[in-house]
Amino acid sequence: MTKENIQKRIEELRTQLNEHNYNYYVRSQPIISDYEFDMLLKELEKLEAENPEFYDSNSPTQRVGSDLNKEFEQVKHQYSMLSLSNSYSEEELRDFDQKIRKLTDQKFEYVCELKYDGTSISLRYKNGMLDKAITRGDGTFGDDVTSNVKTIRSIPLKLKGSGYPEEFEIRGEILLPFAEFDRINQEREELGEALFANPRNAASGTLKSQKSSVVAERKLDAYFYYLLGENLPNDGHFENLQETAQWGFKISPDTEKCTNIDEVIAFIRKWHDKRFDLPVATDGIVIKVNSLKLQQYLGFTAKSPRWAIAYKYKAEQAATILLSVSYQVGRTGAVTPVANLEPVLLAGTTVKRASLHNADIIKSLDLHLGDTVFVEKGGEIIPKIVGADQASRHPMALPVDFIKSCPECGTALIRKEGEAAHYCPNEDGCPPQIKGKMEHFISRKAMNIDGLGAETIDLLYTENLIRNIADLYELKKEQISRLERLGDKSADRILKSLEESKQVPFEKVLFALGIRYVGETVAKILANRLINIENIEKASLEELTAIDEIGGRIAESVQLYFSNPENQKLVERLKEKGLQMQLNEESLANRSDKLNGLSIIISGTFEKNSRDDLKKMIEQNGGKNVSSISKNTSYMLAGNNIGPSKLEKAEKLNIPIISEDDFLKMID
Ligand code: IVH
Repeated sequence: MTKENIQKRIEELRTQLNEHNYNYYVRSQPIISDYEFDMLLKELEKLEAENPEFYDSNSPTQRVGSDLNKEFEQVKHQYSMLSLSNSYSEEELRDFDQKIRKLTDQKFEYVCELKYDGTSISLRYKNGMLDKAITRGDGTFGDDVTSNVKTIRSIPLKLKGSGYPEEFEIRGEILLPFAEFDRINQEREELGEALFANPRNAASGTLKSQKSSVVAERKLDAYFYYLLGENLPNDGHFENLQETAQWGFKISPDTEKCTNIDEVIAFIRKWHDKRFDLPVATDGIVIKVNSLKLQQYLGFTAKSPRWAIAYKYKAEQAATILLSVSYQVGRTGAVTPVANLEPVLLAGTTVKRASLHNADIIKSLDLHLGDTVFVEKGGEIIPKIVGADQASRHPMALPVDFIKSCPECGTALIRKEGEAAHYCPNEDGCPPQIKGKMEHFISRKAMNIDGLGAETIDLLYTENLIRNIADLYELKKEQISRLERLGDKSADRILKSLEESKQVPFEKVLFALGIRYVGETVAKILANRLINIENIEKASLEELTAIDEIGGRIAESVQLYFSNPENQKLVERLKEKGLQMQLNEESLANRSDKLNGLSIIISGTFEKNSRDDLKKMIEQNGGKNVSSISKNTSYMLAGNNIGPSKLEKAEKLNIPIISEDDFLKMID
């Protein structure tokens, strides 16, 4: 390559990597695999090393990525959070071992750990108490997510036992277990919300959620793998980790010490398939020199320690035959295609089905029935089809054509402009939609009906006892108690709970109705602004969209719902049964228009109210919570410990800064 071509390639790689960094860290939506990313990065590192005249301090090789989120306070890491260099072959591991052996004659041990695929966290403890939890950020500064982290039950807030240093840091990985990931995505699908691509994105998205209550609901987990501080108990990293387990930290039970690189390689092979039996995602193995003294002697490069390396498993692929495609209908009528495959062994399990998501994906894969397809197991439990072998396709093979009518009720499917999913519009006559709506209605976050579940709903529906949610309130004890697996006791419990649900607040009833795009938050906003169901029913598009955070899509959906005579009848019946169809007195009393039209940013920590409560007050008084400062921000509600950059920006834009007391006076 000529120098000119080299320079061009370097520029090209930097642009591409910057874009991928943005997709990964800012949007949480990577479009290439980690492996592909690492290959590009390696190529750039090599070109830059060989051609130092093209050095650029802003090259993607000079940083470890950034996940800074403006809405959190930024804190400087006491020890930078570096990453690990990656390897993909046993040969690279032997090179790593050789390099260390050249630098030392000592006998030493390695520690092999699973490489957990979540989002990293650094915890600071002072005198046995959790002081701060900081994300990696750009490696030097991270986001202070302490309040969110405190909701993770496996993280100790106060340490157990004794013998821990007065001050130390411990680092680990926050993870969303597969089962929880599936549950959340199912819920999101039902609410018509965008799905998380994999548990890693779900974990990092959750950790940076503005509401710690959301974090608490999603059962995040954490494993710890790196202890830092002045007076650590042992010279061995492994021994120190065992010690941290005594203090209450969750450490991996699968970590092992090895005396040479062959044992390391055996460990890697052992976990190749076995890792898929774990409840959380892993994408490789981390190999570390055990002795801290030797670690110190080996030191760091600009980006990563010389005493550790990551071995990354390539995503497992297998070839199999596409037998057919079936279609599932969800609560909202969304139709999801599923590929039925000739069973094939992939990473230790037999795969028979793969998700296809929507018609666009089928089209982009150009799938034909009988195709040899490649399935891959990435960060998700359900494998996905990543390609089809066009060369071996039978000339007469039929393309997979997305169905035109609902597999459950036969109604012609529709697809709205700009949406990926096909829908069955027969809301009131399509069995999975009817049953799905009832399941949503009775769910914990909605009406929270004790004793009723999907199975009972199915039974009641099959027995022709219920056709919509209002029918639930007409059930008689005998009708329930004579059903299979139920009895007098269950019937009593269900009826009692239905009776109690008549006290469930209006915003929850509104959410429980299952109007598309009206999730918990939107239901709260609508209830707070419009006070009762009649106002919502008769609100015009303009009135609805005039409410902050209610866009055209939501407004149209609300109107569509209430324009349907079946829904009008249903709401009328629910009203007659005594369900709450307007804000209760307490909420009404707290409500005002004092902050109408004002955009307020909350920053810092407060003495009298939590941030969540302050946000609620802003909403209740007609104001809008915003998360970043612009010239349109009306006020900055400032507490303690505000990041200097945020204050500076507010001052520069002349945004009035008010204290908690000023604010309370404003809404008094
Ligand atoms: S040690 C200086 N150990 O992988 C070394 N990292 O690419 C600090 N990770 O940012 C990291 N499992 O998020 C270490 N057992 C493990 C790990 C692990 C997962 C993640 C971590 C880190 C990234 C490095």
